[in-house]
Amino acid sequence: MTAAHAFAPAKINLTLHVTGQRDDGYHLLDSLVVFADVGDRLWLEPAPDMSLDVTGPFAKGVPTDGRNLVWKAAEAAGTPLRIRLEKNLPHGGGIGGGSADAAAVLRHLGAGQVAATLGADVPVCLDDRAKRMTGIGDCLTPVPRLGTWDIVLVNPGVEVPTPSVFKALCTKTNAPMGTIPSQASKDDFIRWLAQQRNDLQEPAISLAPEIADALNILKGAKLVRMSGSGSTCFGLYRSAEDAQAAQDRIASAHPNWWVKAAKTL
Ligand code: C5P
Repeated sequence: MTAAHAFAPAKINLTLHVTGQRDDGYHLLDSLVVFADVGDRLWLEPAPDMSLDVTGPFAKGVPTDGRNLVWKAAEAAGTPLRIRLEKNLPHGGGIGGGSADAAAVLRHLGAGQVAATLGADVPVCLDDRAKRMTGIGDCLTPVPRLGTWDIVLVNPGVEVPTPSVFKALCTKTNAPMGTIPSQASKDDFIRWLAQQRNDLQEPAISLAPEIADALNILKGAKLVRMSGSGSTCFGLYRSAEDAQAAQDRIASAHPNWWVKAAKTL
């Protein structure tokens, strides 16, 4: 039998406001989430027992057993699979990674209902439509059409554990995101976006100053910000040519960083 192919696109938090903290420690978020045409790839086929093979540029250090979220996802869905996972995205990078991979498995198995049990970021990755994400990541609402954006993703090669970033955040009760404009021009959308925030950006920089370097080198983009809890940062560009030029410039200045021009979906 041939294996089914699944794509796990990079998740980008265009905004990420932290608006409170629950008694169990989880934080309340208000975030505009989009997806891009770069991501991990999976090949999935039914099997009597679970197995996992990891390949790709970011395969190193990825567990190939029950510790991997794709394994947990298949188990939670009650369906053993033989999985090949091609890791193209840096892990611990604030752009989905393991959560997007797990969501791709659940989507394939039609088992999205167990997503929240695997992690706060898994439900938002169940489909690739832009969404507003509130609650701890579990409340998802559709957003006005945002159009396609040329984007450059820059990961400065440092991993920042999400719990440490939340811990380094001084003020947990911040203003929510404003109303997302509908039918806005690209310029108006950028102006609105510039007034929003990623509240985890400063605490992440305090743990990994390389993030500030990544944000700096993206200057010149229409909007520059960090995604998720870092360390991947992004710039939004006016055209594919501008994004490609930025990718080439940044990649030659930092040959060891992960730099990728892409399009939002
Ligand atoms: O749910 P997940 O395992 O992806 O979250 C990783 C960690 O990030 C949690 O253990 C928690 O420390 C932090 N987190 C949080 N509030 C959220 C999401 C994650 O505090 N809404």
